Amino acid sequence: MSDAESLKRLAAARALEQVRSGMKLGLGTGSTAKHFVELLAERVAQGLEVVGVPTSEQTRALAQSLNVPLGTLDEHPALDLTVDGADEVGPGLALVKGGGGALLREKIVASASAQMIVIADASKHVATLGAFPLPIEVVDFGVAAIRRGIERAARAAGCAGLLTLRRGKDGHVFVTDQGHLILDAAYGAIPDPVLLARALEQVPGVVDHGLFINLASRVILAGADGIAVLDRA
Ligand code: A5P
Repeated sequence: MSDAESLKRLAAARALEQVRSGMKLGLGTGSTAKHFVELLAERVAQGLEVVGVPTSEQTRALAQSLNVPLGTLDEHPALDLTVDGADEVGPGLALVKGGGGALLREKIVASASAQMIVIADASKHVATLGAFPLPIEVVDFGVAAIRRGIERAARAAGCAGLLTLRRGKDGHVFVTDQGHLILDAAYGAIPDPVLLARALEQVPGVVDHGLFINLASRVILAGADGIAVLDRA
């Protein structure tokens, strides 16, 4: 396992310490969340009783293959804990998420959880969000007009940058699990994430965006010097 993967696994193992039998868990998406699901599966095999609600079809397939008991958010609308990765962790534990394209389900699941623990390697911790392009999920209708709306809204929040329609590795337009498209916004820096989030939410055709504000209760960062645990004030 590479150094980066070992750090992700370390953060995942620390998060697993918070899991108790009987919990209903939101299961995140991405390479770090994958480590958590794998470690959780080992505990389930030893008798831990939990129900997982996956945030993507990818995570559903992984958890199913590892025999982690699963349910839906409709069956379990109030979850105890969600464990997920992030693309950036900024001040106040504000996050950029959605690099894996699962931001909408991730936000719904995190919002339905009493707690959200984010696990990441320390490189994800930043002073200002925005170096990682912000994923913005939009409907598949009038994308050129939606794009103009996003540009106007972002300017009002002090952000400007190229919007790129996401494509998969196969070159085809990327379609989310909910059947939407993603525009990745290269703002470089987001001076006021709350202002930008509220502005984007006003644009017709924007389904959601990758800014997660006041959702993470704890962030576990694994770095060369060990683990740092950050709690939201
Ligand atoms: C998935 O849509 C994302 O929100 C991921 O949580 C995020 O991209 C982090 O992924 P990695 O753990 O692979 O870096």
